[in-house]
Amino acid sequence: MNLTLKIWRQKDANTQGKIVDYPISEVSPDMSFLEMLDVLNEQLISKGEEPVEFDHDCREGICGTCSLQINGEPHGPDRGVTTCQLHMRMFKDGDTIFIEPFRANAFPVIKDLIVDRSSFDRIQQAGGFISVNTSGNTIDANSIPVNKHDADKSFDAATCIGCGACVAACKNASAMLFTSAKVSQFALLPQGQVEATDRVMNMVRQMDLEGFGNCTNTGACEIECPKGISLENIARMNREYLKASTK
Ligand code: SF4
Ligand code: FES
Repeated sequence: MNLTLKIWRQKDANTQGKIVDYPISEVSPDMSFLEMLDVLNEQLISKGEEPVEFDHDCREGICGTCSLQINGEPHGPDRGVTTCQLHMRMFKDGDTIFIEPFRANAFPVIKDLIVDRSSFDRIQQAGGFISVNTSGNTIDANSIPVNKHDADKSFDAATCIGCGACVAACKNASAMLFTSAKVSQFALLPQGQVEATDRVMNMVRQMDLEGFGNCTNTGACEIECPKGISLENIARMNREYLKASTK
């Protein structure tokens, strides 16, 4: 396939960025999207030009590092996949592809297609954990019965990889889907009850402090989420928040 790539180039956080055109040829439909960018970068390096900076790590949909807005959609046109799992067979010969970083005030651009998502880390640090004594007195997790329905729902919430596509998809740049997944995975388990009140209050407070917008129930986040995190987690977080605020 021969393609035209229109890629956001930005030197650093303080420099104005712009879209730059890059024609690329002989792209195999079997390449992943990131492999296609690798080929482009090899060509740029061989011409003495600066390669395009983009985030990646596992390249198998686990780490949540890859984060590209492709033709206006976080992680591109496929469903249930991250950018690293997107294949060039989703495009056709002659296509023009716009490639931009995830856009949100709370995700400032570091360079080109790389954004700073440490705001997510700070939300996690505010309460996305349970405190367990690991000094040798730990209770075996399996000794606390959890009903299957709750265990499954908790596991579903725990599959959130913190990629930020939900924020990039949202017209309000809301982080409610991410935060609610991190609240829900513990809210559904007995082990999560001890710190439940502090957890939801502190995580929501941090989310607001980071400058994420509000949820207006549009649902774009759920559609673009590569892990299929459900909007019902947002409803659960709202219930947890209401419960915690009345204590
Ligand atoms: S909820 Fe989905 S889109 Fe948002 S960070 Fe988690 S995995 Fe990514
Ligand atoms: S590089 Fe790890 S999820 Fe894409």
